Amino acid sequence: MTPQLHMFRASLDGLPPVVLPAGCELRCFQAGDEPVWERVIALSFGKNPGEIPFEQSMRRDCFLPERVLFIRRDGADVGTASAYVTPADRMPDCGYLHYVGVMPGHTGLHLGYQVTLAALHRMRQEGRRRAILQTDDFRLPAIKTYLNLGFVPMLVDENQRQRWREVFANLHLPELAERSAPLLDGPVWQPPAIPPFVSLI
Ligand SMILES: CC(C)(COP(=O)(O)OP(=O)(O)OC[C@H]1O[C@@H](n2cnc3c(N)ncnc32)[C@H](O)[C@@H]1OP(=O)(O)O)[C@@H](O)C(=O)NCCC(=O)NCCS
Repeated sequence: MTPQLHMFRASLDGLPPVVLPAGCELRCFQAGDEPVWERVIALSFGKNPGEIPFEQSMRRDCFLPERVLFIRRDGADVGTASAYVTPADRMPDCGYLHYVGVMPGHTGLHLGYQVTLAALHRMRQEGRRRAILQTDDFRLPAIKTYLNLGFVPMLVDENQRQRWREVFANLHLPELAERSAPLLDGPVWQPPAIPPFVSLI
């Protein structure tokens, strides 16, 4: 469904610490890691390795090795998230969460939460004050992860008022539809304004 759903975290203050399960560690991108990223993302998204090329998806002006994070489990890279940047004319001081994925066989441990949280810490270290992301209606584990991290719906189209209510219904969280009513009944975001925010956690 288009346009993609957007989510917003109004502040990067007060982020909880990253806590990794035993056997897991974080690292950032190093030279030659392009195929590693492509494998982790392709398998996470149910694609064949190489179907989401690093060069097209990641090698942008805002690419820095330190912004591309991997989570390793028992010595193997199994998840990733990236702390990219929103163009200043879209919203000042805002980080952009890019390409989160955890490979099948390694889900169910909240590794997506932890690697995303590490990306948010990275944004804050760079001086960003808030964060946005884009996702799809059917990505319920991702949306639940982002809600758990304090992201809230950010309307970019009239059709998203109803789509978000359906997402909350699919997550069996009707109370979140009620609590986010000020957002879902509020204005559609117009850049570079700061979107409205109510805490849902
Ligand atoms: C998103 C992703 C990284 C999360 O992986 P993960 O950290 O292992 O996620 P978990 O399995 O630990 O679940 C995270 C949360 O989603 C919930 N969840 C999992 N599957 C769910 C489902 N089918 N429906 C609803 N909620 C679900 C879990 O209960 C958990 O929430 P909780 O902690 O409040 O109980 C992983 O699912 C993935 O790579 N998905 C495919 C790629 C993708 O969609 N990326 C995001 C693009 S925006």
